[in-house]
Amino acid sequence: MWEKNPVLFLVLAFCAIMAGSIVTMIAPFATVNTEADRVPGVKPYTALELAGRDIYIREGCNNCHTQTVRPLVADVLRYGPYSKSGEFVYDRPFLWGSRRTGPDLAREGGKYGDEWHYQHMRDPRSIVPESNMPAYAFLDHEKIDPDLTRRKMKVLGFPCTEADIKALAGKTAMDAMVAYLQKLGNDDNWREAAVVEYQGETKKPFEDDATIRKAGRRLYLEHCSGCHGSDRTGSIGPDISDIDMEEEELFNLIYGGIPGSGMPGFSNLGADRIWKMVTWLEHRGDE
Ligand code: HEC
Ligand code: HEC
Repeated sequence: MWEKNPVLFLVLAFCAIMAGSIVTMIAPFATVNTEADRVPGVKPYTALELAGRDIYIREGCNNCHTQTVRPLVADVLRYGPYSKSGEFVYDRPFLWGSRRTGPDLAREGGKYGDEWHYQHMRDPRSIVPESNMPAYAFLDHEKIDPDLTRRKMKVLGFPCTEADIKALAGKTAMDAMVAYLQKLGNDDNWREAAVVEYQGETKKPFEDDATIRKAGRRLYLEHCSGCHGSDRTGSIGPDISDIDMEEEELFNLIYGGIPGSGMPGFSNLGADRIWKMVTWLEHRGDE
């Protein structure tokens, strides 16, 4: 009967869609941006971070990088706590993105030291050999415009003093980009507090032999050489060619990282792979 009466059908369809929209879209607006939705500790961008954010938009970084950690186990294990709506209150426009050619950056802040980012932005393949991320070394030659940044801070209503603007003198687009990346998702310094401990017996699951060491070396070259150098004598991270550590201690250090120091944890590789690297690292100087 309804299908034969197009006007009635149109009205009913409209009502059905509106009811759905009200329940799923309009009603939640009542709680968005209220106290219940706030995430404590989320701060507005500083002048330098905001300049970096605008360069991020200009360069289209969001075409390859998302900025939202989904509440899925795989995402949370890889990137950190999932994103909450209150974390985006100062993002206009938001940069969630929809495609991950590169990894998600919502929790990038504090993951590496500044020096890592400078080198990675200038030449990604010097750290991650298989990376297809373009090099952005040209950002070193571009100065930030303090006047323009002052006006942007004012329009967005972010706190900004004349001293903050003065401090921008001589800063490059690269400085701004690194400052921005270091702020992402780390306003509450969760990384410093996030102690990841191996739950289980810390004991080498296999005997030390040449095949294990070979696998360990390969894993080292893939995951560690960017910071510690392919010969272990260090670049961004320290020289570890001659470390003197109990194997359990070394395992725990690699598994959990050193929070807040630029040495990331590698728990996502799983215990076996870490033990292989430990086995190789203990054999100084040989294959
Ligand atoms: C063509 C796609 C592409 C573009 C464009 C791109 N990236 Fe990437 N990015 C990647 C890939 C792939 C990786 C992973 C390999 C690596 O670390 O280089 C990556 C890694 C990163 C990382 C390290 C993430 C981590 O936790 O290890 C950062 C930071 C980053 N990109 C920032 C940027 C910024 C800032 C821009 C824009 C100026 C940008 N990327 C543009 C593809 C891209
Ligand atoms: C993003 C850069 C980075 C990567 C990748 C990295 N490290 Fe580190 N590593 C550091 C930094 C920085 C330190 C120094 C931390 C501190 O003590 O302040 C460090 C410290 C260490 C130490 C302690 C050295 C000492 O003398 O106390 C060991 C051992 C180590 N790393 C092993 C590894 C291994 C194995 C890997 C690969 C699974 C790895 N690191 C990957 C940056 C890195």
